[in-house]
Amino acid sequence: MQLARYPRLRFAHLPTPLEPLERLSRDVGGPRIYVKRDDCTGLAFGGNKTRKLEFLMADGLAHGADTVITAGGIQSNHVRQTAAAAARLGVDCELVLTRNVPWNGGDYEEAGNVQLDRLFGAKLHFHPGDIDRDAAMDEIAGWVHARGGRPYVIPVGGSNPVGALGYVACALELENQANDLGIEIDYVVHASSSGGTQAGLVSGFRAINSSTRVIGIDVDADTEAVAADVGRLAQAMAEQLDLPGDIADDVVVKGGYAGESYGVPTAGMIDMSSFGKIDLKGPGALPLLQRLACNDMDRPVGAVIYTQFLDQPGGIVGDVTVTRLADDHFRVISGSAYVDSDLGWIRSHLKADDPPVDIRDVTEDFAVIGLCGPRSRDVLSAVTDSDVSDAAMAYMTARAIDINGIDVLAQRVSYTGALGWELYVPADRVVFVWDCLWQAGRESDVKAYGYKAVDALRLEKGYAALTSDITASENPYEARLGFCVNLEAGEFIGRQALRQKKADGIQQRLRTLVIGGEDYLTLYGGEAVVCEGQVISRLRSAGYGYTVRKNIGFAYLPVDMDPEKTKLEVEIFGENVAAEIAPDVLYDSTGEAIK
Ligand SMILES: Cc1ncc(COP(=O)(O)O)c(C=O)c1O
Repeated sequence: MQLARYPRLRFAHLPTPLEPLERLSRDVGGPRIYVKRDDCTGLAFGGNKTRKLEFLMADGLAHGADTVITAGGIQSNHVRQTAAAAARLGVDCELVLTRNVPWNGGDYEEAGNVQLDRLFGAKLHFHPGDIDRDAAMDEIAGWVHARGGRPYVIPVGGSNPVGALGYVACALELENQANDLGIEIDYVVHASSSGGTQAGLVSGFRAINSSTRVIGIDVDADTEAVAADVGRLAQAMAEQLDLPGDIADDVVVKGGYAGESYGVPTAGMIDMSSFGKIDLKGPGALPLLQRLACNDMDRPVGAVIYTQFLDQPGGIVGDVTVTRLADDHFRVISGSAYVDSDLGWIRSHLKADDPPVDIRDVTEDFAVIGLCGPRSRDVLSAVTDSDVSDAAMAYMTARAIDINGIDVLAQRVSYTGALGWELYVPADRVVFVWDCLWQAGRESDVKAYGYKAVDALRLEKGYAALTSDITASENPYEARLGFCVNLEAGEFIGRQALRQKKADGIQQRLRTLVIGGEDYLTLYGGEAVVCEGQVISRLRSAGYGYTVRKNIGFAYLPVDMDPEKTKLEVEIFGENVAAEIAPDVLYDSTGEAIK
């Protein structure tokens, strides 16, 4: 084989290291496993496409090209490395980037590889995921021709008989390294997608008559299609390199390892054990809660009820969910810092002639695991035989489920706007339950998340937080929590005041403001809201919504303020930044994602 007859540029740091994975080999009890560090190829942080680009770019220059064109998904590594190779050679680069992932997240289209593509001076053309990428590249090639340039089109993944030569060379490199180490390589296992890596390796090993077998692991949705692509390209390589025998026998592609898609949000888990938990038990539980809550508490067993506790003037002093565990047993869940305030409020309103009720702070008895995200149901159903379907456990309901013999109270609630559960676990068993979920979640790449993430997500959903957005100075109608008020649920503290406020109409209302553009602004909450030079309000909660790519702040504004006509500004570190009154809910206003 005469690899040397093909033009080649030197971009990669070769040979890439071949490193033994001793602990992994030991853990799996046998085969000696090595990793070929093709992440260290060096060009613009490296990757497997660098090897292909050594041949592709040389071929392009040999054809007199002054512009390279290629295509890939928005965060494609191949595209990033091509842009870098073009920059290194000083040729122009035009990139077709397609939106192939169900993910429109803020940074997805600007950060990471996209930012690098831009830094390398490439021109980016964004397209929907279903366009014909070859046609889009041909169209650009037409423009380049028309302006007198000389385009060179590199297919997706650099996978053609020229690019695959990079992995023919890699097979030779591996053989040499194995010889140096005195080992024989039985199998090379690698990710396979556009096919050039695998076609290059199988033809390379065949060319030197090596016994090393190659197994491609399909990282795309359609294993048969990947196998067919690899087969076709391997055949073309066999012809190009004049190899003996039927190379189709060497092509092995295994499926079943790919996740749902690039960029599909994974499930997330959070430790929410700091939630306050107060149990009320006995015949006096329902009447006491009815007196305290503005919502109706007399719901079926299993209901989770979101409600506020009000003071006599109708101001909000508590913001809780209440779960009816039995006819005479309720559990009040309050935010992390509010258990003492809620417990005090509940106890102080107990009257001497109330039916008996046992009020107990059970915060320390139960840990809470938050599990949320579009794939959270897959994770939960993998650890329990209990039915967690929507039919069995609708939104805002709770039921006991069994996780490996542990009785867990699963509450289907959401403060992030995604499908999710709060799992109440006996505190001494929580590590075990966490580990079960974590293990089950590995397939969907579960992540641990924190309160900063929760805060960003709930801002996009317009969900209020006690003490910043809702306080004793505001009533539920002003706080857009009117849906929690049931004036017909009998007498409760604050009811008379709310009746009056409803009749008179409110003067101010919590609004969602969008501040500045897409760029992140440092907002802490508390910033002045300015209208026509006058400070008219201040931000309550504020932060960045990463899904919608907006700076979001909540503020109370006069109800008659017209969002269309009002020009607002928010003062951020001494500078006034334009803001507009936006819809209350910026993400998934119909609540589809919660289902
Ligand atoms: C690290 C890595 N290895 C291998 C592949 C697959 O290579 P190919 O597109 O040549 O099949 C990819 C791209 O999907 C990749 O990112």
